[in-house]
Amino acid sequence: MAGLLDGKVALVTGAAQGIGLAVARAYVAEGAAVALADVQAGAVESAAAEIGGKVLPLVLDVTDAGATAAAVETVEAYLGPLDIVVPNAGILLLKHAVEMEAAEFRRVLDVNLTGAFITARAGAQRMLAHGRGGRIVFTSSLFGLRGGRENAAYSASKFGMIGVMQSMAAELAGAGILVNAVCPGQMDTAMIRQLFRDRAALRGVAEAEVRGALESRIPVGHLGPLEHLAGTYVYLASGLARYVTGQSITVDGGWQI
Ligand code: NAI
Repeated sequence: MAGLLDGKVALVTGAAQGIGLAVARAYVAEGAAVALADVQAGAVESAAAEIGGKVLPLVLDVTDAGATAAAVETVEAYLGPLDIVVPNAGILLLKHAVEMEAAEFRRVLDVNLTGAFITARAGAQRMLAHGRGGRIVFTSSLFGLRGGRENAAYSASKFGMIGVMQSMAAELAGAGILVNAVCPGQMDTAMIRQLFRDRAALRGVAEAEVRGALESRIPVGHLGPLEHLAGTYVYLASGLARYVTGQSITVDGGWQI
């Protein structure tokens, strides 16, 4: 059966685990060749091996502009001209603003915002050079749409990403490069499980209690399974979304209702 991304070449950052890995897996299932990039060398190799198919693991720190440009060249040398870029690598730091060091704030912005910009720019430069259009799908967050307690740095990075996304969408639409963002809600990943552990330890309660309290606030009643999120990334990269650009699509199980 024909896949929605047959013959396409994609680069996904932060692909060693979590959302990036789920997106890479979904893209391969739809027929794309996918480069998985991550700062965790061993984990990205294992992730690529686990997916199988036409995949390329790359060790990359997205805050390094030179290394990211070189990684894009490697992707094209091995897999062909780049069609889809998913700047997804990110870190979470939850801290009250008054307790946060400037260096901590800068680090979150460096990885989540500047790193995503560097990745998107490197991909867009190649897409423009090929003249055959392309797709950029950022991973923002619900915290890219509103702030919240302990979220000054993370939220600033994800709001900033929406600004980059809309600006690049305006600049690149004429070249057939569509740029959008997915804003996931509470997804079931290592990042959120760590948060549960930290909160549980802080409050002296069981991890399951913290998880249950959060799940009771989600209208669909549970954290988001990653395979349910990945479909939105497939859609935005596919021919189904040919008239969609500059948008932030929320996938949150009804959290915002
Ligand atoms: P995760 O922590 O499981 O995965 C993030 C990946 O990014 C890791 O493999 C990590 O090694 C990689 N990474 C971190 N810094 C990097 C760097 N400088 N260069 C290259 N790779 C780097 O987290 P998860 O949950 O999969 O998050 C992925 C993205 O989704 C992040 O941008 C996160 O902010 C965002 N997000 C996550 C939500 C959730 O509920 N888990 C909700 C909304 C957004």
